[in-house]
Amino acid sequence: MNFTLTEEEAAIQQLAREFADKELAPVSAKIDRDHRVPRDILAKMADLGFMGMLAPEEVGGAGLNNFCMALVQMEINRACASTGVAMSVHNSLAQSPLLKFATEEQKRRYLPKLTKAEWIGAYSLSEPECGTDSAALITRAVRDGKHYVVNGTKNFVTNGGIADLFIVFVRTNPDVALKHKGISALIVERSTKGFTVGKDEKKMGIRGSSTVSLFFEDARVPAENLLGVENDGFKIAMNTLDGGRIGIACQAVGIAQASLDASLKYAKERRQFDRPIADFQAIQWKLADLATEIDAAKLLVLRAARLRDQGVPHTREASMAKLFASEMANRHATQAVQIHGGNGYIRDFPVERYFRDARITTIYEGTSEAQRMVIARQMLR
Ligand code: CAA
Repeated sequence: MNFTLTEEEAAIQQLAREFADKELAPVSAKIDRDHRVPRDILAKMADLGFMGMLAPEEVGGAGLNNFCMALVQMEINRACASTGVAMSVHNSLAQSPLLKFATEEQKRRYLPKLTKAEWIGAYSLSEPECGTDSAALITRAVRDGKHYVVNGTKNFVTNGGIADLFIVFVRTNPDVALKHKGISALIVERSTKGFTVGKDEKKMGIRGSSTVSLFFEDARVPAENLLGVENDGFKIAMNTLDGGRIGIACQAVGIAQASLDASLKYAKERRQFDRPIADFQAIQWKLADLATEIDAAKLLVLRAARLRDQGVPHTREASMAKLFASEMANRHATQAVQIHGGNGYIRDFPVERYFRDARITTIYEGTSEAQRMVIARQMLR
């Protein structure tokens, strides 16, 4: 896509592209098979600045903006969606709320470890009984002297199995009817007594990414680990997701781009009826639709990232990018399998993985239905 990039933006995109092609693409099938992103890959990405993209240099970050981060995320996800989401959650869901809402002391304590990927970050909002209706969460935190005593269960926590720091949303006002007005954000360290991390879920796709439940049994979290203002944490959750959703939209674009690249190659090589299948209009139209919709999704992603950088409202645009890109990736990962025929259904060809990886993008960080709620509410306000 011809989107005018500055020299710096083009350079960072190229850096990510080279890393994706040389270091990630060759091992992405293994990452899927092993159900694990090797720690040395995350360390290499930290060396390139990709694990602390938004953080300033004084805490070890790369000092990039959301626009550049989107360029990087699209490249990384094209090669490996498991690595892509690990990176996205670490940057957007764990570090971004610290950068925006943490005290100077909290930033000093946690950001240098996160930006170097010595510590991995996670974000925990969902619970077994509250998914889309996140303001109904019931994990309870009661102030007891210098601590919050936390009890409850969280689930579907990306990076949870490898994370050292969790941004956890809890109910600090006992009145559940208050919904979002009684929710706070806590920074929870993995070593917290009474806090345990569950086993990795066995997932359909993004199998290299860790997804766990979290259990709090009288866990004592220091009160100084409150992020932002007590009972005002829901806005931190939502503002953070505005950024995270741009990241998942990037993931969807990356998977769709990988589906297109594989399909284009296959269509030129595969011969039927004495000619490459790319000669058939049925295949050409699929490829043309895929290329067009990928570009449309990229433009939505880059617009949302630009607005976030400008500090202007971008909730609607982030949701539009995620909604369109994730639905598009699913449609086209399906078509990529179709272009590959029987070969698309077996693991020897990567489109089988893209099909499985695409599926989550319309679900996590807010379902497509939740994105439509957000977009419609913004329109009707
Ligand atoms: N930024 C800042 N504040 C926001 C906001 C935003 N984007 N969106 C809403 N708010 C504020 C509102 O202004 C309101 O505050 P006031 O009362 O002071 O005005 C407050 O938050 C509540 O807003 P709503 O009334 O709109 O909230 P709601 O309870 O009706 O919920 C919702 C709206 C869109 C359904 C929301 O709950 C939502 O996005 N749900 C989906 C949750 C989700 O994405 N979960 C995924 C979790 S992360 C994950 O997937 C796991 C992982 O590890 C990747």
